[in-house]
Amino acid sequence: MKRRNNIITVAIDSPAAAGAGTQAKLISEYYNLFYLDTGKIYRYIGKLKINKKDKFSYRLVKNKIKVLNLNNLKDKSLLSNDVAQSASKIAKDKKIRNIVHKFQQECAYNPPKKYNGSVLDGRDIITVQMKDAMFKFYISANVNVRAKRRFDEYKKLNLDISYKEVLKSLRKRDKLDKERKYGPLKKTKDSILINTTKLSKKACFKKIKAIMDKKLKN
Ligand code: C5P
Repeated sequence: MKRRNNIITVAIDSPAAAGAGTQAKLISEYYNLFYLDTGKIYRYIGKLKINKKDKFSYRLVKNKIKVLNLNNLKDKSLLSNDVAQSASKIAKDKKIRNIVHKFQQECAYNPPKKYNGSVLDGRDIITVQMKDAMFKFYISANVNVRAKRRFDEYKKLNLDISYKEVLKSLRKRDKLDKERKYGPLKKTKDSILINTTKLSKKACFKKIKAIMDKKLKN
């Protein structure tokens, strides 16, 4: 793979619904960085698993990822809770993780020329995908607050699910994502913790921007 030199690289890991996507988008807009929400790739495969049932195979995943483009990841159906759960299950599989690795590496280290760099968010971005990122943020929040935020998003999308179900589902996913063998979610020592429990989107971004600007000026 070709690696672009002197680009800004931002790696973000976080549990579900902690606000990482929102911050990643703000970062990408402000610093003109290419943004990849890596969870969407796992959701895309998770949905494939639901739809294809017995016909789901590594070969199928490989072929789909080969022709994957960013528009495929914009599909609203990827946002459902069932797809999220399915994503978390298939994401345990080392072979699946290996299949999506290259796609993510390309986005991280060889983003389109019009961008100054890249920002990726997910569960294993700091620990596996972008170990040498210039900036590493671990974004977290209390699970009840995360569940409330996700519940409100589902309501806006007219998805029929209760707060209790959302909370249960997030807890289940947290456990699966943290305890799995390959690419588990964990905070590394060299990443900066941003706790969004009591902070607004704006306040979080202000913190992140201060950290980034300080280093970029040097
Ligand atoms: O971030 P999001 O909630 O959309 O991710 C869906 C699922 O995809 C996660 O629960 C996790 O199991 C998986 N995932 C992963 N590694 C990533 C991003 C997401 O295993 N880098």
